[in-house]
Amino acid sequence: MLKRTLLALLLFFSFIGAVSAQSASNDSEKVKWFTDARFGMFIHWGLYSAAEGIWEGERLRNGNNYAEWIRYRNRIPEDEYVKLAKRFDWNKIDPEQWVILAKKAGMKYILITAKHHDGIAIWNSKVSEHNLSKLSGTNRDVLKELAAACKKHGMKLGFYYSHWLDWEHPDGWDHNQEITGRITDEQYNKYWQGKVLPQLRELLTNYGDIAMIWFDMWVDYKTTIVKKEQLDQVIKLIHELQPACLINSRLGLPANTPGIDFETMGDNQLGAAYTNHPWETSGTIANSWGYNALENEYKSTSQLLQSLIGNVSLNGGFTLNIGPRADGAVPYEDQTRLNDMGAWLSKNGESVYGCTGLQLRSDQHDWGRITTKKLDNKQIVYLQVYNWPLDKILRLTGILSKPEKAELITDAGKVALSFTKSGPYTHIQLPDVAGDHFVSVIALQYAQPVELDEKAVAESTFGGLALSSNNASQNTVGYKKVGFDGVRPAHLIIDKNGVLTWQVYISAAGTYQADLSYHNDSKTGMSISISASDQNLSASLKPTGKVVVEPHDSYTDEFVNNPIGVFNFPKEGFYKITLTVNSTENEKLLFNRIWLSKKL
Ligand code: GLC
Repeated sequence: MLKRTLLALLLFFSFIGAVSAQSASNDSEKVKWFTDARFGMFIHWGLYSAAEGIWEGERLRNGNNYAEWIRYRNRIPEDEYVKLAKRFDWNKIDPEQWVILAKKAGMKYILITAKHHDGIAIWNSKVSEHNLSKLSGTNRDVLKELAAACKKHGMKLGFYYSHWLDWEHPDGWDHNQEITGRITDEQYNKYWQGKVLPQLRELLTNYGDIAMIWFDMWVDYKTTIVKKEQLDQVIKLIHELQPACLINSRLGLPANTPGIDFETMGDNQLGAAYTNHPWETSGTIANSWGYNALENEYKSTSQLLQSLIGNVSLNGGFTLNIGPRADGAVPYEDQTRLNDMGAWLSKNGESVYGCTGLQLRSDQHDWGRITTKKLDNKQIVYLQVYNWPLDKILRLTGILSKPEKAELITDAGKVALSFTKSGPYTHIQLPDVAGDHFVSVIALQYAQPVELDEKAVAESTFGGLALSSNNASQNTVGYKKVGFDGVRPAHLIIDKNGVLTWQVYISAAGTYQADLSYHNDSKTGMSISISASDQNLSASLKPTGKVVVEPHDSYTDEFVNNPIGVFNFPKEGFYKITLTVNSTENEKLLFNRIWLSKKL
């Protein structure tokens, strides 16, 4: 009887499980191409591209260099602004070249500014005379050509559409209306019904499959003139015309709202923690999105690759922007970055496409990041090595499982590497020459999904353990964390009694030195103790005072490294380290880290 009830219950729950798994997988099916793609091209191209960040001899009036904002920033009248259309060189403009460049760069989708905040459609829109084709007197439709080229080269196509802001439309919104008096909701709705919805309909009807519409409202819609019903009309229209088309969170709704398929972070804002739902960062190569002639601060290829890899390691993607000129040309600086990234991806792409991250601390290792994917029943873990260790040992912490094999990806193919395993550590023996001059990738293959240890403090390059606020497994009274401020190291403010604990793994029995780095303003010193199993080290920490940063008047808090004593670890294994501070009133210890290293 009991058996039958259990069986019935089991069947019931597996049925429920099947139903919910199915609806969840329907959604993830839709967005899967995007979470597999990880890398796409953003193109900011519109009337503003022809201004190039300069208006009547004056540079763009804003420090962020966003040249696509020039009409608003430099207070340009509409009838002057539209004359920029005459600068477009239609003999040279060839959208297929952008697709070819994206393809070479290893990008899997293209997202183009169909209409930016200036309100000018770059396609031959029947809804508004304010479109690039009409203004520049051509019968060409750039989006038609781009859509055809994307189809030809197997590239997904998405449209950026500025829904909230429209500086051209008399009933549209610009920020200045905050002081000049708001237009009424009725007026705004005229813009919405008369321009936004009909233009979206055009975009979703005339250009084949549209992979995503990328909206751009970076504040909560409730603080704007836009109404929830208006956003719902947009979602409904998209679902009706192209059910597979994705919608990003900058529509103005949180990422977990039904209808929103993925989260878009702030401009150039990279991920900070592993996030389960789909997300991406849109990023620039310099500062501006639209072409800006006065820019000269370009990110390096390494930096851009690290942005991509870092996001993938946290389950996110990267949409990297180019700003072509009014003749369609892509700036050389952009091309070189994209070509280099493409060359890297053609060799190391298996560690990016279809990959996600491990749920370890995001800054676990000081040598780079980790990406991973399932392959049949196996799991592949990719170590993304930004810095090739001088001692030729790569120290990985946090995976308890033992890999079947370790291979370095090189120009000549995969090269087997030897490794050792103890506890949460894997030490990989590296050859002299790195696998790549940007980021070297080591692929570890595991027979089964890996077993993680999220708590263990990661070994530093060259060995040794830095026990800090970031990798503490317990912070009993929730001491406040202060990040690195440019001069003072990151620290915790310890101002009441409590303990911090860490889980460490000792892979070789022996004597270990414990040093404590701290700052303390007290008059008399502060007593602390550090313990590991039954051993206890006590110390009185002297006041530290100030240190000169730069002559003659730039001082900051001194942080000193204080040797506290030694621990004898009798055997290999996990140990708990505890820091106890006896803090009397008005005393503060700014705790930076404990450095634990084997005595030679
Ligand atoms: C911002 C800017 C815009 C740019 C966009 C890209 O919201 O307003 O100019 O298109 O971010 O992420």
